[in-house]
Amino acid sequence: MHTRRIGDIEVSAIGLGAMPMSIEGRPDEARSLATVHAALDAGLTLIDTADAYHMGADEVGHNETLIAKALATHDRGQDVLVATKGGHLRPGDGSWTLDGSPGHLKEACEASLRRLGVEAIGLYQFHRPDPKVPYAESVGAIRDLLDEGKIRMAGISNADPEQIGQANEILGGRLVAVQNQFSPAFRSSEPELRLCDELGIAFLPWSPLGGISRAGELGSAHAPFARIAAAHGVSPQRVCLAWMLAKSPVVVPIPGASRPETIRDSSAAADLVLTPEEVAELDAA
Ligand SMILES: NC(=O)c1ccc[n+]([C@@H]2O[C@H](COP(=O)([O-])OP(=O)(O)OC[C@H]3O[C@@H](n4cnc5c(N)ncnc54)[C@H](OP(=O)(O)O)[C@@H]3O)[C@@H](O)[C@H]2O)c1
Repeated sequence: MHTRRIGDIEVSAIGLGAMPMSIEGRPDEARSLATVHAALDAGLTLIDTADAYHMGADEVGHNETLIAKALATHDRGQDVLVATKGGHLRPGDGSWTLDGSPGHLKEACEASLRRLGVEAIGLYQFHRPDPKVPYAESVGAIRDLLDEGKIRMAGISNADPEQIGQANEILGGRLVAVQNQFSPAFRSSEPELRLCDELGIAFLPWSPLGGISRAGELGSAHAPFARIAAAHGVSPQRVCLAWMLAKSPVVVPIPGASRPETIRDSSAAADLVLTPEEVAELDAA
């Protein structure tokens, strides 16, 4: 498995996005555990989760608990960097709300620590800016968690270039990861990707295949992905992830999965090398 760096940690070039195993449409627990185990068997050493990946208001942290269980029941569970997040809430009506207050972030981090059963969280990401709370205050809470040793590394998500600069400054140059939406259908995070490339900060594209309900359309809606996939004898989803990897060595896509087959297929993108001409064609697609 090819690797990339997040801060001082080497991780698989492709990570597992665990959200589909805990939100609307999720599978039963046995299939979820099999999916995480398939990811580990394929050599993946990065899993992205969040306290807000759940459905009912009474099951906050459903996804973190699932990941902790899956890692505890696999030989290589110890080798995985678990990247979780705080700052989003799900009241149980299907919506996603925000609380970026320092008090909430610190409590949420403590709860994530307990659920993951670790002394320090590998990578803790501020999930999304909260317009009700000054950004500096939210990121200040992440800095405090870092200084207290509750988290090993700090990241942010859904941030613009200005917020990336501000967060890195508040964290004293210790920002290691930015997680933004980026896919063939959603390319407006290109400036953030370029900035991360310049700063040497990992860039984790979320919904890299277009999202849970649209990942299957990749072959039909974006014809060049299907054509290049056919030429290599692989899936368009694998081509999409390889295209992202080719963009910069800081890119670490985190495709979601709720089935062993899909994460096995996605993990193989780390070995798929596209020609510069193919990458240019997909850039323009
Ligand atoms: N920071 C944020 O605000 C934020 C927001 C959204 C998501 N995320 C993170 O990003 C991760 C990925 O995003 P996402 O799950 O929304 O969308 P995605 O990765 O674009 O698509 C996920 C869907 O793609 C399917 N899939 C995966 N690999 C495939 C393959 N090789 N061939 C065919 N289908 C494939 C999966 O199907 P099956 O379910 O059938 O396996 C899954 O439902 C999430 O899991 C989460 O960790 C973060």
